[in-house]
Amino acid sequence: MKAKFPYEPWAVTEEVFAAKNLRENESVFALANGFIGMRGNLEEGCAAGAETIQGTFLNGVFDSEPIVYGEKAYGYAKNHQTICNVMDAKSLLLTADGEALCLGRSDVADHRRTLDMRSGTLRRSFTWRTASGAVLAVESQRLVSLRRKELAAVRLRVRCLSGGCDLQIESPLSPAVIAEGDPNDPRNAAGKDRSLTTACVRAEGDVLGMTQQTKRSGYTICCAVAHRGVSGGSRAEDTGARWCADVPLSAGSEVCLDKSICYLAAQHADDALPDRAAALCREAPNFDALLQEQRAELDDFWAGVGLSIEGDDALLQGLRFNLFHIYQSAGRDGKTNIAAKGLTGEGYEGHTFWDTEAYILPVFQYTDPALARKLLEYRYAILPRARERARELGHDGALFAWRTIDGDECSAYFPAGTAQYHIDGDVAHAVLEYVDATGDRDFLARYGAELLAETARFFRDLGFFSAEKDGHFVLNCVTGPDEYNVMVDNNVYTNCVAEETLRGAAAAMDWLRQERPEDYARLCRAIGYREAEAESWLAAADKMYYPAARDGIVPQDDGFLQRRPWPLDSIPAEKHPLLIHFHGLTIYRSMVCKQADLILAMTRYGERWTMEEKRKNFFFYDSVTTHDSSLSMAVFSLLANEIGETATAYDYFMSSARLDLDDMHHNTKDGLHMANMAGTWTGLVMGFGGMRLREGKLSFAPVLPPQWQGYRFRVTVRGSCVEVCMRAGGPEYRLVSGDGVTITSYGKEIALSL
Ligand code: BGC
Repeated sequence: MKAKFPYEPWAVTEEVFAAKNLRENESVFALANGFIGMRGNLEEGCAAGAETIQGTFLNGVFDSEPIVYGEKAYGYAKNHQTICNVMDAKSLLLTADGEALCLGRSDVADHRRTLDMRSGTLRRSFTWRTASGAVLAVESQRLVSLRRKELAAVRLRVRCLSGGCDLQIESPLSPAVIAEGDPNDPRNAAGKDRSLTTACVRAEGDVLGMTQQTKRSGYTICCAVAHRGVSGGSRAEDTGARWCADVPLSAGSEVCLDKSICYLAAQHADDALPDRAAALCREAPNFDALLQEQRAELDDFWAGVGLSIEGDDALLQGLRFNLFHIYQSAGRDGKTNIAAKGLTGEGYEGHTFWDTEAYILPVFQYTDPALARKLLEYRYAILPRARERARELGHDGALFAWRTIDGDECSAYFPAGTAQYHIDGDVAHAVLEYVDATGDRDFLARYGAELLAETARFFRDLGFFSAEKDGHFVLNCVTGPDEYNVMVDNNVYTNCVAEETLRGAAAAMDWLRQERPEDYARLCRAIGYREAEAESWLAAADKMYYPAARDGIVPQDDGFLQRRPWPLDSIPAEKHPLLIHFHGLTIYRSMVCKQADLILAMTRYGERWTMEEKRKNFFFYDSVTTHDSSLSMAVFSLLANEIGETATAYDYFMSSARLDLDDMHHNTKDGLHMANMAGTWTGLVMGFGGMRLREGKLSFAPVLPPQWQGYRFRVTVRGSCVEVCMRAGGPEYRLVSGDGVTITSYGKEIALSL
């Protein structure tokens, strides 16, 4: 079978337009800069016989509406939050001698679209033979500026190869056309009122403007579009603004139009916004200058990543594609984060989950530490909401929302939502790892210690010393990462992250007291901390309960092995994912997992188990896991590598590496799976590369699957960037920049210097 996209190292190209793939390719070809996200929609919108999902999103900009429950009870999440699909500014409509361009209807040849991961652009080209006999070569290029938060730009070039025509170029600025979602799929934003109110429309010379407002969350969103290179006229209507130009073309002539697009948003009334947006796009650098900046930004990013695979072009393309998208989607202002689908689609309504801390942060903390810090600052920014939520549920400390945009809990289904208390531990783990990897003590003093103290308080209050369990500290009625086993007692993963949080918080407060007395005093005052608290955290950590293994099998939680077996081979393929084909109760009483849970604990807290225990449990959980969550396979690959099952690790890795490029979960149309994308980096670096970090010291134990000739990656730890290059002859390590470091390779120390 011919690959959907040819295997190029730095690009993804659609060589032949297929109407049936339009929606998923709109996700694949999405561009973003951490604030603005534009789906890879065709400039003219749709194509004959195709369905489209139009989308432009602004990170953190959402509308809310009350959640309507049939039977409401105390403490349920109150409001939905749904990322806004804002006014569309990227469209360009072409009409030649009265014939509107439309793929599938117009006579179009050599249609190509390329996502270029080095220049950060989406390029498109085709030849259009108009009904009136002209032959036009059409090219467009789009970028969302990685250096300028509010800016995006589009360039259109039309050359007349033969004949002649009157070409009309129309550039509309219009409210988004919102596609209907699937009401039976909880992963989709169906059924929510997602339309915005258009408050004002402007057309002044070559600049269009539009202001929209959310109905309940108080956001004002402004967009301005400036046109350059072609003279045209503009007009404002009730439903939108449009700029139009009539261009007579004869053989050999050409026209080139540049649009600069600016988006601004504020959660308070700001009358100055429309003028600011107009000024920003009027004064924006020209397209070529933006292209240069974009390339420079991406050069830096790729230099930090330094990733290549020799001998598998499809994989290399998949891994770079994944990294490109998580990089584009990450909020960079300390107030926004990464949604489960990034800025590529409306799946999961633009919510942030544990995905960021558990999957995505490790990538940035080793490749772009400044970006990792910004993502953690987001958690600090929403800490007040997490405190309120803990209080509402009757707890001390802070409880982060399972799914949210601005910090408030939006999960209407608490068994697989709020009950995932492990999210507090994921945040704490990320803080500890980030500080270990970067040595950023300033972060620890300013934000990290407080995050740790409040999450430790929460776990200390959630659990208790149970007489039934010999005085051990237990955490009951929790949901671990595996959403097919809800409200269980002593989920091993949750207890592991809770223990790490309790110990990490005690150590951080101790460090602060000794090394930063002023910060310590400030924090004690701010959160009313007393030293005795750390003692009680450590007491709970020391007595943390873990269910005992039976015949070597560690139960994922107290009751897991008592559930009814549900052999996976008895479930037909079309009944997956189980969550949309079976009632929750059927699933919860069965011995079946949606995703890696204990396996994740074993990769992260590996010292708790022997290699033999890991092997045994790997095979057992492999046999009961459906991988209905895209977050699962990359983790299985990681543990398979650790237990020396390279072939299995390879299979799992390959199934996750191109999950979105090949639309393996059949829902890429709703957006790309960010956590899985990040997990594939971890699968390479920590799985095959065997990288681990302990107290600032790096160790590696690389293996080479027989399918590859070699691979290479870079990681930065405490300012030193180390490159690992693995080939059949064994690994080579090189210090790329920073101070000399000593690393460990298969247990042997190696000193690296420049
Ligand atoms: C997974 C969660 C994940 C969420 C968003 C769900 O299917 O079970 O672990 O956080 O998707 O990616």
